[in-house]
Amino acid sequence: MNWIRIASAGDLQDDEVLGLTVSGHRIALYRSAGEFFATDNRCTHAEALMSEGFLEDGCIECPLHQARFDIRTGRALCAPATQDLRTHAVRREGDDIYLADPAG
Ligand code: FES
Repeated sequence: MNWIRIASAGDLQDDEVLGLTVSGHRIALYRSAGEFFATDNRCTHAEALMSEGFLEDGCIECPLHQARFDIRTGRALCAPATQDLRTHAVRREGDDIYLADPAG
């Protein structure tokens, strides 16, 4: 697996989310309770950026129609979204945050 350094741990506080483009893919990077997670940055319901949503208790709320997703699994938790978000593996080494290359 190819790992790409995408951020420093200090770039995000708990319950913050950052939008990034990695290998041409739009990625949302989340920090929750000191851990990092990543999903696709586009809502599965329509054209909204998850990085502009509201993150709390490990769930991201879409800014457009308020669907909620589990950031660990990508699971769609409520309407209007019915399709899960694609998740991406994240690894932390010291202060460096790495993402599994979404291009494969
Ligand atoms: S665009 Fe996200 S819930 Fe509609």
